[in-house]
Amino acid sequence: MSKILITGSAGQVGGELLSELMKQHSSSDILLTDISGLERISDEYEKMILDVRKYGDIKKIIEENDIKYIFHLASILSAKGEENPMLAFDVNMNGTHNILAASVELGVSRVFIPSTIGVFGPEAKKDNTPTWNASRPRTMYGITKFTGEFLMQYYFERNGLDTRGIRYPGLLSYKTPPTAGTTDYAVDMIMHAARKKDYICYLKEDASLPMMYMPDAMENTIKLFNAPAASLRYRGEYNISSFTFSPGELAQAIREFVPGFKVEYRPDYRQKIAESWPKSLDCSDAIKDWGFKIRFTLKEMIENMILNMRQ
Ligand code: SER
Repeated sequence: MSKILITGSAGQVGGELLSELMKQHSSSDILLTDISGLERISDEYEKMILDVRKYGDIKKIIEENDIKYIFHLASILSAKGEENPMLAFDVNMNGTHNILAASVELGVSRVFIPSTIGVFGPEAKKDNTPTWNASRPRTMYGITKFTGEFLMQYYFERNGLDTRGIRYPGLLSYKTPPTAGTTDYAVDMIMHAARKKDYICYLKEDASLPMMYMPDAMENTIKLFNAPAASLRYRGEYNISSFTFSPGELAQAIREFVPGFKVEYRPDYRQKIAESWPKSLDCSDAIKDWGFKIRFTLKEMIENMILNMRQ
C-alpha cells in the first residue's frame, strides 16, 4: 500500500500533523522519519532515522516503502539558523532540493513543504502583506525557505510534480515545547503563565507578529493538501495567519486567565529578526483558492493552551 512519509517528524509541527493525519488514516499508512528524537514518538508508528541531506537515503526510503505522499517538515528555524547559518543552509536548502528531486525521480504524487513569514524582509509591506511583495529575507531561514518556494515552482513546471505549501506564521502549541524560532517566545510565555511563573521575553514589548494556533494550522495544512489541483494558483506561497499580537498584548490577554502575570523585556538578537518580518498578512489567496478558515480566536487559544498545559 502507498504510504505517507513525514520528514522532521519529531519537530515542532511533526507530532501535531500526525494527529491530524490520523483522523483520516491508520498508523500503517504513515512512515515517520527524523535525524533524532524519534524515541519521543509512540512505537505504534513505523519510524526510521533519515538525514534529508543524504539523497541516496531519501531515495531508498521512498523506493522501499512505496511512498506516494511527502510532508517535508525537516528544517532549521530562524533563531537556530542565525546561530548556525551553515547548518541551516545545508538542511533547508539541500534537504528540500533532495526531497523534490527524489520525488520527481521516483514518481511521488504530492509533496507538501512549509514556508514561512520569514520569506519577507524589512522592505515588504508591514501590514496585510500580500502574497507577492518585496521579498528580501535577511535570515538564513528566510533565504532558504524563499528559495524552496522557487524550487517547488520549478519542479512543478518542469516535471509536473504536485508541490504545495503554506507560509506559516508563528505557530503555538501546548504539546511541543518551544525550540528554535523567533516566534516561540509566545508558547514559552503562555507556559510560564500556566505554571504561575514570571517570564523574561527576548523580544520588545511592541514587536507585533502574525500568529496561529497549531490545530488551525494543521487543519488548514490538510485542507490545502487535499484541495483540487486545478484551484491552486500558487505552489508554496500561500499566506495564512489567525491574528497579530505583540508580547505586551499577549501578556495582557494572558492576565485575563492568570491575573498579576509579570513579564520583563530583555530583547536580544531575535528582536532584529522579528523587526524584519510583517506584522500581519493578506490571506485572501488562501481563502479564495482552497477555503482557508480558522476556528480559534486569541482568547480561545490562550484558554485552551493554559487548560491543556495544566493538565
Ligand atoms: N516560527 C518561525 C520562526 O520563528 C517563523 O516561521 O522561526
